[in-house]
Amino acid sequence: MGNKFYLTTPLYYVNASPHIGHSYTTIAADTLARHMRRVIGEDKVWFLTGTDEHGQKIQRAAEAAKLSPQDFADKTSLQFKGLWQKLDISYNDFIRTSQERHIKTVQKVLDILYKKGDIYEGKYEGLYCTPCETFWLESQAPEGKCPDCQRPVEKITETNYFFKLAKYQEWLLGYLNNNRDFIKPSSRYEETLSFLELNKLNDLCISRPKERLSWGIPLPFAPGHVTYVWFDALINYISAVGEFDENDKYQSPWWPADLHLMAKDILRQHTVYWPIMLHALGVGLPQKVFAHGWWLINEDKMSKSKGNVVNPLEMIKKYGLDAYRYFLLRDVPFGLDGNFSESAIIKRYNSDLANDLGNLVYRTLTMVEKYFAGNIPDVDLSEHNGDRQVAGITAKIENLKPLVYAALNNQDFSRALESIWELIGVANKYVEDTKPWNLEKGKKEEELKKFIRILVEVIRKVGEELEAFMPQTAALIREQIGSSAIKKGSPLFPRIC
Ligand code: MSP
Repeated sequence: MGNKFYLTTPLYYVNASPHIGHSYTTIAADTLARHMRRVIGEDKVWFLTGTDEHGQKIQRAAEAAKLSPQDFADKTSLQFKGLWQKLDISYNDFIRTSQERHIKTVQKVLDILYKKGDIYEGKYEGLYCTPCETFWLESQAPEGKCPDCQRPVEKITETNYFFKLAKYQEWLLGYLNNNRDFIKPSSRYEETLSFLELNKLNDLCISRPKERLSWGIPLPFAPGHVTYVWFDALINYISAVGEFDENDKYQSPWWPADLHLMAKDILRQHTVYWPIMLHALGVGLPQKVFAHGWWLINEDKMSKSKGNVVNPLEMIKKYGLDAYRYFLLRDVPFGLDGNFSESAIIKRYNSDLANDLGNLVYRTLTMVEKYFAGNIPDVDLSEHNGDRQVAGITAKIENLKPLVYAALNNQDFSRALESIWELIGVANKYVEDTKPWNLEKGKKEEELKKFIRILVEVIRKVGEELEAFMPQTAALIREQIGSSAIKKGSPLFPRIC
């Protein structure tokens, strides 16, 4: 592990409000950022998120809302920021592609690549639907009709600018062959590799004529054109944390990124376009790109038109923030698709949070109150007198941190949480097996002390390891058992009926 950690989420489009899908990537990133701050230090981690604000989708959404694109973007960008605040997202920087710092770097990148001959002027030919202002491929409009509005499409040719992707295909293949860990999970690595082996890359059209699209970054060498939104947006990862110097060398204290997080829908842009852009610029590549799965609703994609979009604010109002964070990170292994439903949240909540964690904390604190007047007994735990159950629990307490660290090194959130819950599980079993009420009756004072003390240690450890996943719950646990006398509160997760 290096001595700094630069982590990014995608820049979310501002044409619509944030939903649970956006919150998933951002919560996962937040958990890793919090974790890494513990591992390598607060000031060694840089967590970037933000909004993607140019392009046709946004220009159209703004027109529909009767606002200028900038005013419209300002409004939705604030919605994302507001949501991140409610979800306790500890980002270090929020970049917007309409900011000056970003525009300046995009134009510099365009200049460098144009000077180098990697961007050239060419003809773009396609089937165009004028009312929808959209280009279609022959295969999408087989009868010459627009797939959206059914009106006839026209074959048009326009002058545009192209980036030489094809020139770098062999280089990228070689790079991927030598860097199997560049793309995770490995299924996504294989997908990218076979795409490149089976297809010949076309150069990428990176401009749009201003008469068709005005909301974009003008090309410095062709001001009648604006930059294609993907080419513009990817550059945020470098425009946020550094600059090109007078010799066109990129300088940054944070680059290369240690991890770009996203879902599988935007894998290719991050594993084909982006590495080639960086390589052409002479800038180093990110360490790792991780593309997780999708949250589906009744096995179907979420979309505004289907009316099945779930608002994260409603979920946290109903179930609480930490239960929501827990559910997303625990229910589905990171990388796979999952089906989102409230009944699944309630099930996890009642079994893992109320029954397992909440119950362990509450019953332990109740016993500290009852048997020791609220003072945590001070005993040496290294002696377990051959008690195998106690030895097992103390070993698990010690092993928890390495297990959680190892899982998070691989972005395996559900595995990390499983390890924490295994410890909670053995502690609850220990209570049931020991039957403390019998110990008390028999006045086995020393054994009772040790028993309670072990449970307190389990809870402390669990609280520490939960910090990155469920910051509020970790803080509550600390408050309740952080010192030598407990402060019992109400149950952490009252059951939901
Ligand atoms: N603006 C581009 C990204 C540019 S990055 C330089 C974009 N924006 S987006 O708003 O559509 O966000 C896509 C990302 O949001 C996904 O890659 C994923 O991180 C997250 N998700 C959106 N819907 C999702 C689900 N249904 N499930 C899981 N994640 C989802 O693409």
